[in-house]
Amino acid sequence: MLLEASGIGKSFGQLRALDDVDLAVSTDEIHGLIGPNGSGKSTLLKCIAGAERPSQGRVLFAGRDITALPPSERARAGMSIKFQITSVMPALSVYDNVLLALQAHDRLRDLLTSRTRRGLDTQITEMLAAFRLDRRAAALAGELSHGEQQWLEIAMALATAPRLLLLDEPTAGMSLEERRVTGTLLRPIKARCAIVIVEHDLDFIRDICDVLTVLDQGRVIASGSVAEIQVNASVQEVYLTRV
Ligand SMILES: Nc1ncnc2c1ncn2[C@@H]1O[C@H](COP(=O)(O)OP(=O)(O)O)[C@@H](O)[C@H]1O
Ligand SMILES: [Mg+2]
Repeated sequence: MLLEASGIGKSFGQLRALDDVDLAVSTDEIHGLIGPNGSGKSTLLKCIAGAERPSQGRVLFAGRDITALPPSERARAGMSIKFQITSVMPALSVYDNVLLALQAHDRLRDLLTSRTRRGLDTQITEMLAAFRLDRRAAALAGELSHGEQQWLEIAMALATAPRLLLLDEPTAGMSLEERRVTGTLLRPIKARCAIVIVEHDLDFIRDICDVLTVLDQGRVIASGSVAEIQVNASVQEVYLTRV
């Protein structure tokens, strides 16, 4: 297993946002995290990435206990997160946003010493091309459509060549067509790194995920293949009554 979060608990005051949650993700897997609003999906991603510290439990990444590591060290170990709220720099070019994402990462030093500046340029251009943004490289990020901004953010999260990519609702606010394209863009990434993705769109999830974990009120109510989850009675009940 690449990622093994076990017994994760998180309280905000009286509120139990996560209660004894287990999540295991293997290399080259797209793992969907679904559940009603407020079920703890974003909090779980943050506990994995280190943006929140769990009240209980531990997180193993590539066999190493990273429970106490700050986000920067998790990033260095190969974890990358795209939060629910967009964080592109609107006044910078698309190209510079990706460059910044690389610079924020310690490995840039290695990049600069081991490769030429041109190598870095090739890497950024390839990443932009993978997300259909190569022709928009010089445009300001703020001029991109909402969907393109989401793709730029995913490109930024991938620029550091992570082993695990955490995506929180990347298709929120996208048109149907943009969602379809997002699926097409994400599928080949699985050859490079594992993905944990939070999504509301069940059709999208069904299309791109190998494994699903379902949260409800901070607890895992089901985990398994897409086929298994689709016929799971408690999942159906939650989705019929609460979503
Ligand atoms: N920083 C926080 N402070 C207090 N409560 C929070 C905080 N973050 C999340 N919560 C609460 O924890 C619960 C789970 O939230 P969240 O993980 O964002 O759910 P989801 O992403 O599944 O919609 C919600 O009740 C939410 O209001
Ligand atoms: Mg959320």
